Amino acid sequence: MAFTLRWKGERLTPVEVMHRVRGKLLPRPRHINTYIDDDAPAEALEATEFGRIYDSHDGARALKWLHYPEIYERHFGPLRGKPIRILEIGVAYGGSLEIWRRFFGSEAIIYGIDIDPSCAVHDGKAGSVRIGSQTDAAFLRSVVEEMGGIDLVIDDGSHDNRHIQASLDVLFPLLAEGGIYLVEDLHCSYWPRYSGGYAWPGAFYNRLKVMIDDMHHWYHGRGERIAATAGHLHAIHVYDSIAILEKRRVPEPVMTRRPKVGTAGAD
Ligand SMILES: C[S@@+](CC[C@H](N)C(=O)[O-])C[C@H]1O[C@@H](n2cnc3c(N)ncnc32)[C@H](O)[C@@H]1O
Repeated sequence: MAFTLRWKGERLTPVEVMHRVRGKLLPRPRHINTYIDDDAPAEALEATEFGRIYDSHDGARALKWLHYPEIYERHFGPLRGKPIRILEIGVAYGGSLEIWRRFFGSEAIIYGIDIDPSCAVHDGKAGSVRIGSQTDAAFLRSVVEEMGGIDLVIDDGSHDNRHIQASLDVLFPLLAEGGIYLVEDLHCSYWPRYSGGYAWPGAFYNRLKVMIDDMHHWYHGRGERIAATAGHLHAIHVYDSIAILEKRRVPEPVMTRRPKVGTAGAD
Protein backbone atom coordinates (compact mmCIF):
# COMPACT_ATOMS: atom_id res chain seq x y z
CA MET A 1 0.00 0.00 0.00
CA ALA A 2 1.38 3.44 -0.97
CA PHE A 3 2.51 5.83 1.79
CA THR A 4 -0.12 8.55 2.27
CA LEU A 5 -0.50 11.78 4.18
CA ARG A 6 -3.64 13.36 5.58
CA TRP A 7 -4.55 16.51 3.61
CA LYS A 8 -7.79 18.36 4.44
CA GLY A 9 -9.56 15.13 5.43
CA GLU A 10 -8.25 13.06 2.49
CA ARG A 11 -5.43 10.54 2.33
CA LEU A 12 -3.07 11.54 -0.48
CA THR A 13 0.32 10.36 -1.68
CA PRO A 14 3.21 12.86 -1.27
CA VAL A 15 3.10 13.52 -5.03
CA GLU A 16 -0.63 14.31 -4.82
CA VAL A 17 -0.03 16.68 -1.87
CA MET A 18 2.69 18.49 -3.85
CA HIS A 19 0.29 18.71 -6.78
CA ARG A 20 -2.43 20.27 -4.59
CA VAL A 21 0.08 22.80 -3.19
CA ARG A 22 1.26 23.60 -6.73
CA GLY A 23 -2.38 24.06 -7.74
CA LYS A 24 -2.71 26.78 -5.10
CA LEU A 25 0.28 28.65 -6.52
CA LEU A 26 -0.84 28.54 -10.16
CA PRO A 27 -3.22 31.16 -11.63
CA ARG A 28 -6.67 30.42 -10.29
CA PRO A 29 -9.47 29.68 -12.77
CA ARG A 30 -12.75 31.59 -12.53
CA HIS A 31 -14.83 30.39 -9.61
CA ILE A 32 -17.55 28.02 -10.77
CA ASN A 33 -20.32 30.23 -9.32
CA THR A 34 -19.34 33.11 -11.59
CA TYR A 35 -20.68 31.07 -14.52
CA ILE A 36 -24.19 30.88 -13.09
CA ASP A 37 -26.78 33.00 -14.89
CA ASP A 38 -30.36 31.87 -14.27
CA ASP A 39 -31.61 34.50 -16.74
CA ALA A 40 -29.41 33.42 -19.65
CA PRO A 41 -31.30 33.42 -22.98
CA ALA A 42 -33.41 30.29 -23.12
CA GLU A 43 -33.27 29.75 -26.92
CA ALA A 44 -30.63 27.07 -26.42
CA LEU A 45 -33.09 25.24 -24.18
CA GLU A 46 -36.06 25.70 -26.50
CA ALA A 47 -34.20 23.91 -29.29
CA THR A 48 -34.39 20.45 -27.70
CA GLU A 49 -36.95 18.33 -25.88
CA PHE A 50 -34.52 17.84 -22.98
CA GLY A 51 -34.01 21.62 -22.84
CA ARG A 52 -37.77 22.28 -22.81
CA ILE A 53 -38.27 19.74 -20.01
CA TYR A 54 -35.42 21.29 -18.03
CA ASP A 55 -36.56 24.87 -18.66
CA SER A 56 -40.10 24.12 -17.47
CA HIS A 57 -38.93 22.02 -14.50
CA ASP A 58 -40.43 23.30 -11.25
CA GLY A 59 -39.59 20.36 -8.98
CA ALA A 60 -36.44 19.67 -6.98
CA ARG A 61 -33.43 21.77 -7.93
CA ALA A 62 -31.06 20.72 -10.72
CA LEU A 63 -28.14 22.64 -12.25
CA LYS A 64 -27.24 22.21 -15.91
CA TRP A 65 -24.83 24.05 -18.17
CA LEU A 66 -26.65 25.65 -21.08
CA HIS A 67 -24.75 23.65 -23.69
CA TYR A 68 -25.57 20.23 -22.14
CA PRO A 69 -29.18 19.69 -23.41
CA GLU A 70 -28.13 19.49 -27.06
CA ILE A 71 -25.56 16.81 -26.13
CA TYR A 72 -28.06 14.80 -24.08
CA GLU A 73 -30.59 15.03 -26.89
CA ARG A 74 -28.13 13.83 -29.53
CA HIS A 75 -26.95 10.80 -27.57
CA PHE A 76 -29.93 9.94 -25.39
CA GLY A 77 -32.78 10.92 -27.75
CA PRO A 78 -32.98 7.49 -29.46
CA LEU A 79 -33.37 5.84 -26.01
CA ARG A 80 -36.49 7.77 -25.00
CA GLY A 81 -39.59 5.69 -24.30
CA LYS A 82 -37.55 2.50 -24.08
CA PRO A 83 -37.10 0.23 -21.03
CA ILE A 84 -33.45 1.14 -20.59
CA ARG A 85 -31.59 0.84 -17.29
CA ILE A 86 -30.03 4.13 -16.21
CA LEU A 87 -27.67 4.79 -13.31
CA GLU A 88 -26.92 8.38 -12.32
CA ILE A 89 -24.01 8.93 -9.94
CA GLY A 90 -24.87 11.99 -7.82
CA VAL A 91 -28.45 12.62 -6.68
CA ALA A 92 -28.08 15.83 -4.61
CA TYR A 93 -31.51 17.54 -4.48
CA GLY A 94 -33.11 14.85 -6.66
CA GLY A 95 -33.80 17.31 -9.49
CA SER A 96 -31.98 15.49 -12.25
CA LEU A 97 -33.72 12.20 -11.45
CA GLU A 98 -37.05 13.97 -11.89
CA ILE A 99 -35.91 15.45 -15.21
CA TRP A 100 -34.53 12.13 -16.48
CA ARG A 101 -37.87 10.50 -15.64
CA ARG A 102 -39.76 13.07 -17.70
CA PHE A 103 -37.26 12.77 -20.53
CA PHE A 104 -36.92 8.97 -20.70
CA GLY A 105 -40.51 8.08 -19.72
CA SER A 106 -42.16 5.57 -17.46
CA GLU A 107 -40.54 2.49 -19.03
CA ALA A 108 -37.02 3.46 -17.98
CA ILE A 109 -35.48 1.87 -14.90
CA ILE A 110 -33.78 4.81 -13.21
CA TYR A 111 -31.41 4.52 -10.26
CA GLY A 112 -29.38 7.21 -8.54
CA ILE A 113 -26.56 6.73 -6.07
CA ASP A 114 -25.09 9.24 -3.66
CA ILE A 115 -22.67 9.15 -0.75
CA ASP A 116 -24.87 11.56 1.21
CA PRO A 117 -27.38 9.61 3.35
CA SER A 118 -29.86 12.51 3.21
CA CYS A 119 -30.42 11.68 -0.49
CA ALA A 120 -32.33 8.58 0.61
CA VAL A 121 -35.44 10.78 0.90
CA HIS A 122 -35.60 10.77 -2.92
CA ASP A 123 -35.86 6.99 -3.11
CA GLY A 124 -39.04 5.88 -4.82
CA LYS A 125 -39.94 9.31 -6.25
CA ALA A 126 -38.62 9.64 -9.81
CA GLY A 127 -36.40 6.59 -9.40
CA SER A 128 -34.65 4.37 -6.90
CA VAL A 129 -31.90 5.85 -4.74
CA ARG A 130 -29.15 3.88 -3.06
CA ILE A 131 -26.61 5.31 -0.64
CA GLY A 132 -22.93 4.54 -1.10
CA SER A 133 -19.76 5.75 -2.73
CA GLN A 134 -18.95 5.71 -6.40
CA THR A 135 -15.52 4.40 -5.38
CA ASP A 136 -16.96 1.31 -3.67
CA ALA A 137 -16.76 -1.47 -6.25
CA ALA A 138 -18.88 -3.94 -4.25
CA PHE A 139 -21.60 -1.31 -3.77
CA LEU A 140 -21.65 -0.44 -7.48
CA ARG A 141 -21.87 -4.11 -8.44
CA SER A 142 -24.73 -4.71 -6.01
CA VAL A 143 -26.71 -1.77 -7.43
CA VAL A 144 -26.21 -2.95 -11.01
CA GLU A 145 -27.27 -6.45 -9.99
CA GLU A 146 -30.43 -5.04 -8.41
CA MET A 147 -31.08 -3.10 -11.64
CA GLY A 148 -30.81 -6.29 -13.66
CA GLY A 149 -27.98 -4.83 -15.75
CA ILE A 150 -27.20 -1.39 -17.04
CA ASP A 151 -27.46 0.46 -20.36
CA LEU A 152 -26.56 4.04 -19.46
CA VAL A 153 -24.30 5.63 -16.83
CA ILE A 154 -24.32 9.36 -16.08
CA ASP A 155 -21.45 10.29 -13.77
CA ASP A 156 -22.38 13.56 -12.05
CA GLY A 157 -20.92 12.55 -8.69
CA SER A 158 -17.90 13.85 -6.79
CA HIS A 159 -16.08 14.93 -9.99
CA ASP A 160 -12.84 13.84 -8.33
CA ASN A 161 -10.71 12.46 -11.17
CA ARG A 162 -9.71 9.38 -9.15
CA HIS A 163 -13.37 8.65 -8.38
CA ILE A 164 -14.43 9.07 -12.02
CA GLN A 165 -11.84 6.53 -13.08
CA ALA A 166 -12.67 4.13 -10.20
CA SER A 167 -16.37 4.09 -11.15
CA LEU A 168 -15.59 3.62 -14.81
CA ASP A 169 -13.28 0.69 -14.03
CA VAL A 170 -16.21 -1.12 -12.38
CA LEU A 171 -19.19 0.06 -14.40
CA PHE A 172 -17.97 0.11 -17.99
CA PRO A 173 -17.40 -3.69 -18.05
CA LEU A 174 -20.93 -4.13 -16.64
CA LEU A 175 -22.53 -1.96 -19.36
CA ALA A 176 -24.63 -3.85 -21.87
CA GLU A 177 -23.47 -4.06 -25.47
CA GLY A 178 -24.47 -0.79 -27.13
CA GLY A 179 -24.40 0.99 -23.76
CA ILE A 180 -23.42 4.61 -23.17
CA TYR A 181 -21.16 6.02 -20.43
CA LEU A 182 -21.35 9.78 -19.93
CA VAL A 183 -19.11 11.75 -17.57
CA GLU A 184 -20.01 15.37 -17.00
CA ASP A 185 -18.48 18.50 -15.51
CA LEU A 186 -15.06 17.45 -16.71
CA HIS A 187 -13.70 20.98 -16.30
CA CYS A 188 -12.77 19.40 -12.95
CA SER A 189 -10.18 17.45 -14.91
CA TYR A 190 -8.09 20.63 -14.78
CA TRP A 191 -8.49 21.36 -11.07
CA PRO A 192 -6.03 20.01 -8.47
CA ARG A 193 -8.64 20.01 -5.70
CA TYR A 194 -10.49 17.40 -7.78
CA SER A 195 -7.22 15.44 -8.27
CA GLY A 196 -6.95 16.89 -11.75
CA GLY A 197 -4.60 19.37 -13.39
CA TYR A 198 -3.54 20.60 -16.80
CA ALA A 199 -1.75 17.64 -18.48
CA TRP A 200 -1.67 15.95 -15.06
CA PRO A 201 -1.26 12.15 -15.48
CA GLY A 202 -4.20 11.35 -13.16
CA ALA A 203 -6.56 13.82 -14.86
CA PHE A 204 -9.48 12.18 -16.64
CA TYR A 205 -8.70 13.98 -19.90
CA ASN A 206 -5.33 12.30 -19.79
CA ARG A 207 -7.09 8.95 -19.41
CA LEU A 208 -9.20 9.81 -22.45
CA LYS A 209 -6.03 10.38 -24.44
CA VAL A 210 -4.85 6.91 -23.39
CA MET A 211 -8.24 5.54 -24.47
CA ILE A 212 -7.77 7.10 -27.89
CA ASP A 213 -4.43 5.28 -28.15
CA ASP A 214 -6.13 2.08 -26.92
CA MET A 215 -8.78 2.33 -29.63
CA HIS A 216 -5.99 2.38 -32.18
CA HIS A 217 -3.93 -0.46 -30.69
CA TRP A 218 -4.17 -2.27 -34.01
CA TYR A 219 -1.97 0.36 -35.58
CA HIS A 220 0.71 0.98 -32.92
CA GLY A 221 1.05 -2.55 -31.54
CA ARG A 222 1.59 -1.48 -27.92
CA GLY A 223 -1.64 -3.02 -26.70
CA GLU A 224 -4.47 -1.49 -24.65
CA ARG A 225 -3.54 0.08 -21.30
CA ILE A 226 -7.01 0.54 -19.77
CA ALA A 227 -8.42 -2.88 -18.98
CA ALA A 228 -11.99 -1.68 -18.27
CA THR A 229 -12.58 -0.46 -21.80
CA ALA A 230 -10.28 -2.83 -23.70
CA GLY A 231 -11.87 -4.37 -26.77
CA HIS A 232 -15.16 -2.48 -26.31
CA LEU A 233 -14.47 1.18 -26.96
CA HIS A 234 -16.45 1.84 -30.09
CA ALA A 235 -16.45 5.65 -29.87
CA ILE A 236 -15.39 8.56 -27.68
CA HIS A 237 -17.24 11.86 -28.01
CA VAL A 238 -15.63 14.87 -26.36
CA TYR A 239 -17.61 18.07 -25.77
CA ASP A 240 -16.90 21.01 -23.48
CA SER A 241 -16.82 19.27 -20.07
CA ILE A 242 -18.64 16.12 -21.23
CA ALA A 243 -17.16 12.87 -22.47
CA ILE A 244 -19.30 10.05 -23.84
CA LEU A 245 -18.00 6.53 -24.35
CA GLU A 246 -19.97 4.15 -26.54
CA LYS A 247 -19.59 0.48 -25.69
CA ARG A 248 -19.58 -2.01 -28.52
CA ARG A 249 -17.36 -5.02 -29.12
CA VAL A 250 -14.72 -3.84 -31.56
CA PRO A 251 -13.70 -6.38 -34.19
CA GLU A 252 -10.35 -6.24 -35.91
CA PRO A 253 -10.58 -3.55 -38.62
CA VAL A 254 -10.81 -4.73 -42.21
CA MET A 255 -10.19 -2.72 -45.36
CA THR A 256 -12.09 -3.60 -48.51
CA ARG A 257 -11.77 -2.81 -52.18
CA ARG A 258 -14.42 -1.91 -54.75
CA PRO A 259 -14.63 -3.06 -57.44
CA LYS A 260 -13.52 -6.31 -55.82
CA VAL A 261 -10.20 -7.63 -57.11
CA GLY A 262 -10.76 -10.13 -59.84
CA THR A 263 -14.10 -8.66 -60.93
CA ALA A 264 -14.77 -6.91 -64.20
CA GLY A 265 -13.58 -3.30 -64.18
CA ALA A 266 -10.98 -3.82 -61.42
CA ASP A 267 -7.33 -2.90 -62.01
C1 LIG B 1 -23.29 17.74 -8.73
S1 LIG B 1 -24.17 16.93 -7.43
C2 LIG B 1 -25.32 15.94 -8.33
C3 LIG B 1 -26.35 16.75 -9.00
C4 LIG B 1 -27.49 15.98 -9.61
N1 LIG B 1 -27.04 14.96 -10.53
C5 LIG B 1 -28.38 16.96 -10.37
O1 LIG B 1 -28.05 17.29 -11.53
O2 LIG B 1 -29.37 17.40 -9.80
C6 LIG B 1 -22.97 15.79 -6.88
C7 LIG B 1 -23.45 14.77 -5.87
O3 LIG B 1 -22.44 13.76 -5.79
C8 LIG B 1 -22.41 13.29 -4.47
N2 LIG B 1 -21.12 12.63 -4.20
C9 LIG B 1 -19.96 13.18 -3.79
N3 LIG B 1 -19.02 12.24 -3.63
C10 LIG B 1 -19.59 11.05 -3.96
C11 LIG B 1 -19.15 9.70 -3.99
N4 LIG B 1 -17.88 9.38 -3.67
N5 LIG B 1 -20.01 8.74 -4.37
C12 LIG B 1 -21.29 9.05 -4.71
N6 LIG B 1 -21.77 10.32 -4.69
C13 LIG B 1 -20.94 11.31 -4.33
C14 LIG B 1 -22.65 14.52 -3.60
O4 LIG B 1 -23.15 14.14 -2.34
C15 LIG B 1 -23.64 15.30 -4.46
O5 LIG B 1 -24.96 15.08 -4.03
